[in-house]
Amino acid sequence: MSAAGASEASGARRVCLIGAGSSGITAAKALHERGIPFDCFEKSDRVGGNWVFGNRNGMSAAYRDLFINTSRPRMEFSDFPMPASYPDFPHHSQIAAYFEDYIDHFALRERITFETGVEHAARGEDGAWTVTLDTGESRTYDALMVANGHHWDARWPEPAFPGSDRFAGAQMHAHSYIDNSIFAGKRVVVLGMGNSAMDIAVEASYVAERTYLSARRGVWIVPKYIFGKPIDQIRNDPRVPFKVRQRMTQQLIRSYQGPPERHGLPKPDHRFGEAHPTVSGRILDRIQHGTITPKPNIAALEGERVRFEDGSVEEVDVVVYCTGYKISFPFFDEDFISAPDNRIELFRRVFHPDVPGVFFIGLLQPLGAIMPLAEAQGEWVGDYLLGDYALPPHADMLADIAADQAAMHARYVASKRHTIQVDYEDYLYHLAKERRAGAERARAKGYAPPTLCRRSAAITAS
Ligand SMILES: Cc1cc2nc3c(=O)[nH]c(=O)nc-3n(C[C@H](O)[C@H](O)[C@H](O)COP(=O)(O)OP(=O)(O)OC[C@H]3O[C@@H](n4cnc5c(N)ncnc54)[C@H](O)[C@@H]3O)c2cc1C
Ligand SMILES: NC(=O)c1ccc[n+]([C@@H]2O[C@H](COP(=O)([O-])OP(=O)(O)OC[C@H]3O[C@@H](n4cnc5c(N)ncnc54)[C@H](OP(=O)(O)O)[C@@H]3O)[C@@H](O)[C@H]2O)c1
Repeated sequence: MSAAGASEASGARRVCLIGAGSSGITAAKALHERGIPFDCFEKSDRVGGNWVFGNRNGMSAAYRDLFINTSRPRMEFSDFPMPASYPDFPHHSQIAAYFEDYIDHFALRERITFETGVEHAARGEDGAWTVTLDTGESRTYDALMVANGHHWDARWPEPAFPGSDRFAGAQMHAHSYIDNSIFAGKRVVVLGMGNSAMDIAVEASYVAERTYLSARRGVWIVPKYIFGKPIDQIRNDPRVPFKVRQRMTQQLIRSYQGPPERHGLPKPDHRFGEAHPTVSGRILDRIQHGTITPKPNIAALEGERVRFEDGSVEEVDVVVYCTGYKISFPFFDEDFISAPDNRIELFRRVFHPDVPGVFFIGLLQPLGAIMPLAEAQGEWVGDYLLGDYALPPHADMLADIAADQAAMHARYVASKRHTIQVDYEDYLYHLAKERRAGAERARAKGYAPPTLCRRSAAITAS
């Protein structure tokens, strides 16, 4: 009996994949190519998730003039280059078109069930997953792949600033920002020092009466180009100790544009690479031209004014909170799997150590692009499902997770935005090593696929 046949006989389908953003489509490709039966459910009527401006799923943070900040070669999938006609940093519409082309090229469109959301997913005692769709239908699966994205659930300041409930102006989160027409002639405070804050402050500065950039912490501003090349195209060898690479990059940025405080921004309280990179080729230019005024953090909102922590007070019409996102899994019961304060501890960001049969794709925040990392993760899970890769013993996984978490928390500034950080090259390098080690373990076990659901036979390629 084929894998699908064995599964149907038991009542369980094989793999359920949640989401067809860039992470979901590459995971779908990995399953498809391995002949692993799966269903992929996508809420929207198209793929691309965040990169679909005005996505009907209501989850996209894309604004009209969003361009990628990781360069094209860094973002494209390994076996499907972006068109040569694309610029180094394409527009969101080109990125969304690229993902559409990807699914057509690899014949994945028919494998995705569009306009169908997963409302609930629970694992039974026998390991079977019961998945409830927003159509009302329930289905049973052996395994679950989660690729629902982690930049759609807006995190507002916690706690809210004093006086925010009585502020006379408008308050909004970066997630709902569309374009700068709303700022015309207004006095705008943009709060935060991540990439949303950079883009939105720059855009506001062209039309607003005043634009203030308010920060609770200084950051290193990474230019998009250095030596005429996208900065992320400069070789970054994971075999060179991180401290050495860190010193070199920080020195490069300092000599290129000077320290942030020279531009009136707060001095970073950390070294380069100890916070998620803030990439902007335009913010310093707009500050140097006097169109953006740096400010410290907001202390309070006072009617029509904002008081900052240095005691200065400004009349303000709009406050834009660029304060990041929450990692959310609305389809899991909170006490089953959740990420309080964005913390979720997984083996190499994919395997849950205590819940077999669930895999997370794209749930990581690289210094670099997510897509090639999600691609490698999908292939890794595919190999695992077929028995071509075997996990290390449970205790080793826990030790690996603990070491990884300790290293991340020691390196990064304490913040809810630094809970799933990885270095692009290092992650791929160490994952390749782990996959080789796991292939050896699998060989020693005779390539026996894992039994994830006691009610059905192990998954085999159909
Ligand atoms: C403004 C902005 C700019 C960014 N720029 C970059 C960049 O330049 N480079 C980079 O690498 N990263 C960037 N990112 C990070 C971004 O997360 C990734 O680019 C990418 O979108 C991640 O893809 P994903 O598939 O994991 O998530 P998403 O793109 O969020 O896709 C998730 C998909 O899952 C679907 N889904 C969610 N829940 C369900 C459900 N319950 N049932 C069915 N379907 C569901 C959604 O409809 C969506 O299609 C940016 C993020 C933001 C907010
Ligand atoms: N052009 C692009 O490609 C582009 C554009 C936008 C976003 N993005 C990506 O989208 C993701 C999210 O970026 P983001 O900028 O929206 O969020 P983010 O990276 O999480 O940054 C949030 C910022 O808000 C600050 N902050 C949070 N809570 C605060 C509070 N209560 N008071 C004051 N400051 C507070 C944080 O400071 P601390 O550091 O002190 O916590 C940080 O500076 C990232 O992956 C980013 O690279 C890319």
